[in-house]
Amino acid sequence: MKVGVIGGGYVGLVSASCFAKLGFNTMILENDKRKINKIQRAISPIYEDQLDSLLKLTIIQNGNLSITNDRDLFFKNSDIIFICLPTPSQSNGEIDLNYILKELMELGKLISKSNKFKFIIIKSSVVPGSTSGIIKSTLEVYSNKKVGFDFGLGVNPEFLMEGQAINNFFNPDRIVIGTLDQKTKTVLSKLYESFNCPKLFVTLDEAEMIKYVSNSFLATKISFINQIANLSENFNINMDNIVDGIGTDKRISKQFLRSGLGFGGSCFPKDVLALYNLSKQYDSTISILKKTLEINNYQPLRVVKLLKNQFDLKNKNISLLGLSFKPGTDDIREAPSLKIVKELIKYDCNISVYDPAHKNTKLPSHQYLHICESIEEVLNNSDAAILVTEWDEFKSLEPVNFSNMNNKLIIDGRRILDPNIYHNSNVKLITIGNSRINSS
Ligand code: UGA
Repeated sequence: MKVGVIGGGYVGLVSASCFAKLGFNTMILENDKRKINKIQRAISPIYEDQLDSLLKLTIIQNGNLSITNDRDLFFKNSDIIFICLPTPSQSNGEIDLNYILKELMELGKLISKSNKFKFIIIKSSVVPGSTSGIIKSTLEVYSNKKVGFDFGLGVNPEFLMEGQAINNFFNPDRIVIGTLDQKTKTVLSKLYESFNCPKLFVTLDEAEMIKYVSNSFLATKISFINQIANLSENFNINMDNIVDGIGTDKRISKQFLRSGLGFGGSCFPKDVLALYNLSKQYDSTISILKKTLEINNYQPLRVVKLLKNQFDLKNKNISLLGLSFKPGTDDIREAPSLKIVKELIKYDCNISVYDPAHKNTKLPSHQYLHICESIEEVLNNSDAAILVTEWDEFKSLEPVNFSNMNNKLIIDGRRILDPNIYHNSNVKLITIGNSRINSS
């Protein structure tokens, strides 16, 4: 069984290298020549734990993984073809399927000329109804063949978290397999037979819905706890105790209840918006999702509010510890840091940023924004520091590390600094969602 993956982006590259590690002969189809060149030399174009060594193993050592921009060669080499192309938001918030549909037109033409039964599996996040609707019809029209009789079609969503994607691939909570035809169900069962987790065999629409509900539910959990944290600042409450108190109830669980600056990244904001827009189209508006997004848009601004309670922000030197939307990645898509920078610029602040994954990042140049190469550099002469991303490097910071600041004020937007260490020091620590410390 040979595996093909269309799209060497985050999901495609991780999935392909993991399938190759499992022993499948795997090929990626990618059109970005610079990316191809790097991957062929086993250099990961993205920042992801363990990926470089996995590429070395699968590309150089055992040769199970290859990458090409030659679609004919790719098609010939692949029995099961995973579509791992981006599905961005359109300006009206609806999902944009164009990358996928263009590729499917080409695949359809190749299927029309082939006498082999190929399996086309959608791994990209597509809203419910996409695969049984436009995706199926595009393939059938361009191939002039029928799903189930001439080729297979399935949906197999991914649940990989950036920074932990390889571990997530090999240790999934579940594998969701959406199919129309028995052959596709059989071939995907075989592909994943070495996994011991529950395997859920569902319809195409159900598989798509599971992915969107999963991301939307987790995002809503985060917005919910963030509003509880904001309220809790008015009482003698430490949010960690609240999360322990409710999270030990197995029905709730502690996961995705870390309050702070809200969710970012390329998935949650986009997927919540797409599900919300889909629900409106079907006159079944999931209004809670609109609130989830509104709360999340506000949450990064809350640290700016906490700062404004301390002093007049005009022309102040503000340091940001962290830029990526979460630790373990250099991804800044929809990162809370960007919203904070945008807000601080309104007050003509001079902003310095340090992030371990962004020492050499070229950000859109702005006269007020400066990228630093160390914690020491970012704090130098600063009037306040905002902890934005919970990198390990920041967790061990102590009052002495802030000694070169002009004004020793820290706003911990991720709740990772230990307040007890700061209590009797000359550094003022304000933690989002924690009144005991805010008032000290
Ligand atoms: C998310 C999902 O967790 C994956 O299952 C899914 O496959 C992926 O989207 C996707 O759709 O491709 P990811 O975006 O990599 O993965 O990041 P998460 O670790 O889920 O974090 C998302 C955001 O929520 C981050 O900004 C994080 O800081 C924030 N978060 C997470 C919190 O604010 N509090 C929490 O308790 C947990």
